[in-house]
Amino acid sequence: FAFTPANQAWAEAQVTKFPEGRQASAVIPLLWRAQEQEGWLTRPAIEAVADMLGMAYIRVLEVASFYFMFQLQPVGTVAHIQICGTTSCMICGAEDLIAVCKEKIADKPHTLSADGKFSWEEVECLGSCTNAPMAQIGKDYYEDLTAKRFGELLDELAAGKVPVPGPQNGRYASEPL
Ligand code: FES
Repeated sequence: FAFTPANQAWAEAQVTKFPEGRQASAVIPLLWRAQEQEGWLTRPAIEAVADMLGMAYIRVLEVASFYFMFQLQPVGTVAHIQICGTTSCMICGAEDLIAVCKEKIADKPHTLSADGKFSWEEVECLGSCTNAPMAQIGKDYYEDLTAKRFGELLDELAAGKVPVPGPQNGRYASEPL
């Protein structure tokens, strides 16, 4: 793994923002940029970040494996789906959304669909509890989901469309910002 020249320059600029001896504070932005470049965090990418920051590989892996915004396995080329399975979403139908993932993507989380376009996982609360159940798809939130609407969303994404994020039931908050 190597950052592209532009990303390398960006990463070095991040490191200089912190006092001498505190370069490890740049670990999250550097991991994030590596993931944006590669799609997920490979071991060589984590090692490269560790080397840049003078950290042990295991310390960087601890960070990367703690936050579910970091992916340690390959993700779908179209989208990685994160289903909130915490209380509000669970009560309001998260298990129905997970059933759709199992049917349309793969039976197990962190597994690529047959065409490689999608992957999925269940995550903890994403802070959108009033619009449960919800899923994060890429960087967008899709809320007030039903299994039917969620299945349609996956079909639209597979067809190359970008569904409008936000609540999917027409409630006021669905107006795009
Ligand atoms: Fe699902 Fe909070 S419980 S977003």
